[in-house]
Amino acid sequence: MRIFMDTANIEDIRRGVAMGVVDGVTTNPSLVAKEGIEYRDRVLEICEVVQGPVSAECISEAADDLVEEARRIAAWNEHVVVKIPMTEAGLAAIKRVSAEGIKVNTTLIFSPNQALLAARAGATYVSPFIGRLNDAGHDGMAVVRESVQIFEAFHLPTQVLAASIRLPRDVTDAALAGSHVATIPANVLFEMVKHPLTDSGIERFLADAKKYTPV
Ligand code: E4P
Repeated sequence: MRIFMDTANIEDIRRGVAMGVVDGVTTNPSLVAKEGIEYRDRVLEICEVVQGPVSAECISEAADDLVEEARRIAAWNEHVVVKIPMTEAGLAAIKRVSAEGIKVNTTLIFSPNQALLAARAGATYVSPFIGRLNDAGHDGMAVVRESVQIFEAFHLPTQVLAASIRLPRDVTDAALAGSHVATIPANVLFEMVKHPLTDSGIERFLADAKKYTPV
């Protein structure tokens, strides 16, 4: 499973990339609004740092407007993946821009049927929102698992990108569900590195290492 960071914070992205485990980044208007910076500027900065897929969201609603916006955003940088929401107009736009070779991440996926439609329209990624489904009393990971099963059964090249992750355990569950990618908030990614037994193990090894002459 590939690992993306779900943030627009450039310092966190630099830290994640320095760890050597970050393959891409997803942003959305809410994440960029928190940063107080122009969307395009930040997306270009992220592309420079991550050198991998960077999702940038379209905010138009009509199909023609989405197509125009997707073309404009995709032209910013070769790494840009345009995010298009799961609507009828969104599907029509996905069909058109995917045929032009623009990579699309279909966002706001809450059911396997939505994932199937987006895949048939030609999306590169579908993003089921696990945390928001769980918040509403549903089983978010089931949407990931069932979407993966459907794509495998019909040899659809679309990748499942588990989104709206809240906890380190969500990442494990997404991997076990066969998700192709998980997009992980910075705090969750950094938390995944840690384990109290790792910390105490390092402490003990360092203490014992003082008992002999280092090589
Ligand atoms: C990623 O593509 C989504 O925008 C993001 O994961 C949404 O997460 P949230 O439900 O925590 O806002």
